[in-house]
Amino acid sequence: MRPGSAPEDGGNRPRGARRRFLGYPSRVRRPPSTVRLEPRLAAVLELVPAGSVVADIGTDHALLSLALLESGRALRCIASEPSAARLARASARVAASRWASRLDLRSGDGLAVLSRRDTVTVVVLAGLGGHTIRRILDGPRRKTLAPARLVLQPQTAPAVVRRWLAGAGYRLVAERLVREARRFYVVLAAEPGAEDLCHPSLSPGDLFETGPLLVRSGDPLVEAFWRAELRRARAILERARGGRGRDDARARAALAGRVLAALHDVPRIQSCPPGRGGARERPDGEGVQEPRVPGEP
Ligand SMILES: C[S@@+](CC[C@H](N)C(=O)[O-])C[C@H]1O[C@@H](n2cnc3c(N)ncnc32)[C@H](O)[C@@H]1O
Repeated sequence: MRPGSAPEDGGNRPRGARRRFLGYPSRVRRPPSTVRLEPRLAAVLELVPAGSVVADIGTDHALLSLALLESGRALRCIASEPSAARLARASARVAASRWASRLDLRSGDGLAVLSRRDTVTVVVLAGLGGHTIRRILDGPRRKTLAPARLVLQPQTAPAVVRRWLAGAGYRLVAERLVREARRFYVVLAAEPGAEDLCHPSLSPGDLFETGPLLVRSGDPLVEAFWRAELRRARAILERARGGRGRDDARARAALAGRVLAALHDVPRIQSCPPGRGGARERPDGEGVQEPRVPGEP
């Protein structure tokens, strides 16, 4: 079983039944997986192509790098961590694993730990804030390294990351929404190219917030996320008397309303039809009235 993935029998094997692995002769046991990933990191792992050379920046526990090597998605990993205490813990874990010869642990800030000679093909930044991810990527070192893919899991402000990616000449090739312990996480994969920010009813600003691929994905979790956002914004509006918090909540509720309407009205639209432009960007604060939301009072 791949780290973090569901059991191949869906977990419904009757008690006492013998475990059979798909693709293996019945008497051959697949080596036991030593690394278990939570769903958030399992989604990150799945967006790394097989055979990559991976830089896992801000690795902390090094679990992702170990799982990438174990799964064959990484041939080599460079895992970096600025905190000495975390690096020491990661180092002990790596030394006790089978992968020490292919996992290079380095201490330092962002991409400064890497050089062109590392021939990194995928840069992963998982579990850091969106503003930190943007700061780390927005320097000359990234251009020198020229990775084929960025896999990013911002803990906060995914719109900041998506906007930066589009401005820096990347297009999203995959987006995942993951729910873990009642929290939602976004995982993005981007490659050099031009972003398609065309949608019949959502502006580019809305698409940076919701994710241009997520909004077209048909994934029911996307609707669950925006309904939760709408409830949260309405709860703030009920409590807040005025000021910035109230303005932000009103704008968020309006955005959630537009996204939910778009999810119902234009499901799975792949791109704008030729000759028909998408919605225009709204300046902040403009058009913040809530549209009618399907299924809401
Ligand atoms: C919340 S942990 C995430 C660890 C792991 N990547 C994951 O997703 O589970 C964030 C890690 O990023 C590291 N970090 C913070 N700022 C960093 C920077 N500028 N460069 C590299 N790592 C950084 C922190 O020390 C911390 O270990």
